[in-house]
Amino acid sequence: MTKAVLLTGGAGFIGSNFVHMLAELRPDWRIVNLDALTYAGNAANLAAVEGRDEYHFVHGDIRERADVMKALELAKAGGADVYVVHMAAESHVDRSIEGGMPFVTTNVVGTQVMLDCCREAGVARFVHVSTDEVYGSLGDQGFFTESTPLAPNSPYSASKTGSDLLVRAAHHTHGFDAVITRCSNNYGPYQFPEKLLPLIIANAQEDKPLPIYGDGMYVRDWLFVRDHCEAILTVLEKGAAGEVYNIGGNNELPNLELVKQVLAALGKPESLITFVKDRPGHDRRYAIDATKIREQLGWEPRYRFSEALPLTIEWYRSQVEWLQGVRSGAYREYYQRHYDAR
Ligand code: NAD
Ligand code: DAU
Repeated sequence: MTKAVLLTGGAGFIGSNFVHMLAELRPDWRIVNLDALTYAGNAANLAAVEGRDEYHFVHGDIRERADVMKALELAKAGGADVYVVHMAAESHVDRSIEGGMPFVTTNVVGTQVMLDCCREAGVARFVHVSTDEVYGSLGDQGFFTESTPLAPNSPYSASKTGSDLLVRAAHHTHGFDAVITRCSNNYGPYQFPEKLLPLIIANAQEDKPLPIYGDGMYVRDWLFVRDHCEAILTVLEKGAAGEVYNIGGNNELPNLELVKQVLAALGKPESLITFVKDRPGHDRRYAIDATKIREQLGWEPRYRFSEALPLTIEWYRSQVEWLQGVRSGAYREYYQRHYDAR
């Protein structure tokens, strides 16, 4: 029987990488991409698949039942088995600190709309793409496992936690086939340059200051986006209903170290580093224990950081037009609002 994936948020960073991966690894699957094209969504990320048979873009909002049902109808056409990969979200912690409401409506309410419509449509599986931030912050030692208590610290992570709990409840109460993934920080092509890595690559290329929050010793566990996408596909195909799977790169780095590596790769001076006022409530350290997905489903990262970081830097260096396009007037306004006062 035909297989179809209804992907939400497919015009964003991870979503567009997921579309490219699926078109390559499962060429006979139909892909329906439901995306509202917010400031973070970019149709240009998907130019390579436009016009392809069995790729359908639905410009719509996950908070709108009619939009979700339209996307589901397209996915189900001809009696296809429909797998849902739900990753549409407001995703930037700093914006959630400026204002939490869009995070609640999209991440929490939007997820419930998705769950209601997908149950009604009788989909085969619902993969909910969540984040390690739902676990809160670690000290110097230890790792997040799937049984670490949920303790979100930002409006963003609190809204993602809310969505995780709604997915959990749909499985527990209604027997809905749902699986949750929780991944660490991704890096790679097509990331919107409000996030640390593309922001510092873009600024460094133009010899602009690189804003580092606080002491720069905040630790993230970096995973190449293609590895995350392959992990999501693994969970879709092999995961057990009702389970949570952590996904991580076992690749911890303090922000300052990451920035120094980027500067070295670009041949730019460390004097561009500028320490600025810290992010309120800033989580000190994230680190994922990905034993469960490795042992139970056989997934592990394929890309080494030492190879994938230069690939990523090179991608941004070569994508001058893409970077110019996304750093539009609205981006410049955000940048000024957010950084000028720091
Ligand atoms: P992103 O901000 O780059 O993209 C989000 C996409 O969702 C955009 O295309 C946007 O247009 C769309 N969208 C937003 N609101 C919508 C709505 N109401 N209806 C329909 N579409 C809407 O995000 P990303 O970094 O690609 O993250 C994708 C998912 O992965 C998110 O759920 C995020 O929580 C999760 N995640 C991200 C990371 C990371 O490092 N980026 C790590 C772990 C988990
Ligand atoms: O851990 C997974 C999460 O990773 C995802 O759920 C989020 O959607 C994603 O945005 C990301 O969240 P972070 O807050 O970790 O990512 P960000 O790129 O915003 O920041 C990474 C680190 O860099 C963090 O410690 C804050 C710091 N930082 C960030 C910016 C934008 C700076 O020092 N300066 C900056 O200008």
